[in-house]
Amino acid sequence: MKLRPLGTHGPQVSAIGLGCMSFAGFYGATTEAEAHRTLAACIDEGITHLDTALIYGNGVSEEIMGRFLKTTSGSFSIATKGGIVLEPERHFDNSPDRLRSQLEGSLTRLGVDHVDLYYIHRRDQRIPIEDVTGTLARFVDEGKIGGIGYSEIAPASLRRAAAVHPVAAVQSEYSLWSRQPELGLLQACEDLGTAFVAFSSLGRGMFVDRFPDPASFGDRDFRRASPRFLEPNFSANCAAIRPFIDYARDQGMAPATMANAWVLAQGEHIIAIPGTRTADHLHQNAEAGRIKLGADQLAEIARLLPPGFAHGDRYSDKQIVGVERYC
Ligand SMILES: NC(=O)c1ccc[n+]([C@@H]2O[C@H](COP(=O)([O-])OP(=O)(O)OC[C@H]3O[C@@H](n4cnc5c(N)ncnc54)[C@H](OP(=O)(O)O)[C@@H]3O)[C@@H](O)[C@H]2O)c1
Repeated sequence: MKLRPLGTHGPQVSAIGLGCMSFAGFYGATTEAEAHRTLAACIDEGITHLDTALIYGNGVSEEIMGRFLKTTSGSFSIATKGGIVLEPERHFDNSPDRLRSQLEGSLTRLGVDHVDLYYIHRRDQRIPIEDVTGTLARFVDEGKIGGIGYSEIAPASLRRAAAVHPVAAVQSEYSLWSRQPELGLLQACEDLGTAFVAFSSLGRGMFVDRFPDPASFGDRDFRRASPRFLEPNFSANCAAIRPFIDYARDQGMAPATMANAWVLAQGEHIIAIPGTRTADHLHQNAEAGRIKLGADQLAEIARLLPPGFAHGDRYSDKQIVGVERYC
């Protein structure tokens, strides 16, 4: 498994991490036992970076991880996130008191006294990012977090934050069908020594062996409202992606392996955190951290799935609230 630094001053972590959002049932039902088997498989696969957030099941993902961490001798770098409040309705609060109480809650649920990385999940535009970075820098000084992170921010915001304190990581959606970070964010991260952590690197289950069936999406499934999974976009997206899936198989690779390896090939500072509920899928995802796509393979992928091929936006108008738009 390739290792990459979690920011210039951070630890070396596996280039493929595990996104633990699905443990809270985001993409279908699962059990704690299955989640623990998936986490145990990380140790065999050399996956050392785990990503979660308070809002993944309002603490459920962190609790499941915490109970696993108590029983394992495996050593992980853990990232979690705060700054979103779900009740009485979803809003953003990056104030020092709120962040402190959310961080303390996350540490308790995870059963640790320190996480390697703490992200602001969504910015609270009422508070200058310099002030929020100052709050997080205090958590670093107190030894509660190893590094500062932001999710879904614009390059200009990252530069403002980095002027106050090094930013270890920025996390944004990045995959074969979500290419916006190429317009400045990947470059800003590289300039500043910030790791770029790519979430939904499998397009929320599209660059894999079998397309998801929208008829099976449960009430809590994010994709129910995501434009790319609604007709007529969904059928058009399946048709566009199918040749890529055939190509991956033709190259003797699982499509998920090829899609994650493509993400890692876009920069040495990139870490991907595909999410899965199962050890079988984890194995395919981890494989991407052991291979390197050749120039001919990258060229063929670029031909099959050029930037902008996707039908529909990645978020609905409601889902995109809080994401910084910069192009
Ligand atoms: N910062 C943010 O705002 C934000 C937003 C979204 C996600 N994230 C983070 O990023 C992580 C990953 O993103 P994601 O879970 O949204 O999307 P993803 O990794 O692109 O896709 C997850 C979907 O792909 C399926 N899958 C995964 N590996 C597979 C494989 N090898 N073969 C077949 N199917 C496979 C999963 O189903 P199975 O469970 O059946 O494998 C699940 O339905 C999350 O867990 C979370 O930690 C962050």
